[in-house]
Amino acid sequence: MAKVKTSYFCQNCGAQYAKWQGQCTSCREWNTIVEEVIQKEEKHTWKQGPTRSKRAVKPLKVNEIVRSEENRMSSGDNEFNRVLGGGIVQGSVILLGGEPGIGKSTLLLQIALQLPHKTLYVSGEESQAQIKMRAERINPSSENCYILTETKTQNIFKQIESITPDILIIDSIQTLHSDYIESSAGSISQIRECTAEFIKFAKETDTPVILIGHITKDGNIAGPKILEHMVDTVLQFEGDRNYVYRILRALKNRFGSTAELGIYEMLGNGLREVTNPSEILISRNEESLSGTAIAATVEGIRPLMIEIQALVSTAVYGTPQRSTTGYNAKRLNMLLAVLEKRAGFRLGTKDVFLNITGGISVDDPAIDLAVIAAILSSNEDIAIEKDICFAAEIGLAGEIRPVQRVDQRILEAEKLGFSTIFVSKQNKITIKKPGIRVALVSKIEDVISDLFG
Ligand code: TYD
Ligand code: MG
Repeated sequence: MAKVKTSYFCQNCGAQYAKWQGQCTSCREWNTIVEEVIQKEEKHTWKQGPTRSKRAVKPLKVNEIVRSEENRMSSGDNEFNRVLGGGIVQGSVILLGGEPGIGKSTLLLQIALQLPHKTLYVSGEESQAQIKMRAERINPSSENCYILTETKTQNIFKQIESITPDILIIDSIQTLHSDYIESSAGSISQIRECTAEFIKFAKETDTPVILIGHITKDGNIAGPKILEHMVDTVLQFEGDRNYVYRILRALKNRFGSTAELGIYEMLGNGLREVTNPSEILISRNEESLSGTAIAATVEGIRPLMIEIQALVSTAVYGTPQRSTTGYNAKRLNMLLAVLEKRAGFRLGTKDVFLNITGGISVDDPAIDLAVIAAILSSNEDIAIEKDICFAAEIGLAGEIRPVQRVDQRILEAEKLGFSTIFVSKQNKITIKKPGIRVALVSKIEDVISDLFG
């Protein structure tokens, strides 16, 4: 009997070891190293025997390579196309990651159903009937979409040969297993092997492949980081499950920029593209309420107006509470310290709660000023006029610092009918005479006197 070949893999970073050890030397995690059976056969490809390769594989001089312009396929979804840099590139492998229940399967099934090309959607997670039910919610009429429930890659490739799809969707890479590797589905060596088989298939046949990947508690795509290196594009689908908004962003893109962003709304009948996010994220209440301020932020390269809500109240228990949703809690503590020191506000005896509405999370430092304004407004119980917005970062000395893309922020604010925007005095504004008052400020005190008199 042939000796079973095994190896040890870190389940966190994918590092391979010859022996077991308690701590992974590459990612420093404890107890993540697991023995996996690997039994490689001599040669194996996604398909054995004559290949249906469309490309001649031989070296070419750079200037001999013809780059065809139409090597992108539209997904029929503007946000998805935009994030990919203008559509799905033929022969590319895209990895879509996201928390469970966020809508990865829904997004890709929706795309599969609206594509005019022959699409094969392989699911290792749901039955054909379940997918049919979902498809009926989204879009019941599609003639080009095939659904296959299968987890063995060799069987998937067999089906691919008979169907010859123009695009392949795999839900999810963690449920697949290849016969060439003995270890169980979802283990590092299986994920790596299955991905490699699909990459080979994609490159040889020029068929785009979209893989769904689960992510772990700490937000990485489960399984090895190596997976992210192997594929051409890594997309992340994020949002708060309790809210309807979802953000799609590219973490890596070999065929485009990673600055683009797609915004969706999860409805009862699938995901809807959101073309005017700013208008939706701001609640246009008739009366102004204290504790809210609007920030002009930029996500990727997209300007976005968001509403920040703060609640400052007297601490009932000894230690005051600080709680944030969608904003970095450490950053809030820093801003509170700055306020205490520079503006004389005794927030040490107050509870502070901060919330970014819409369930999105923002790490643009340009929202600092709006955070401070919201806190002060709640503390003073004086509402900020609804047509005022903010775009500036706060430094440790209480100075108001310039931000990137200030012109773009001002234009977005103007477009949405704001009458005043607070920005740093040091920002160079190149747009001429915007139809909005640009209040240039350099210290927190200036803002306080302007807002609260
Ligand atoms: P799903 O795509 O299954 O998430 P993932 O594949 O990322 O785990 O999304 C599931 C959630 O989306 C589920 O809670 C129900 C909801 N949903 C809608 O709100 N509207 C819809 O049209 C569909 C299909 C799902
Ligand atoms: Mg799913």
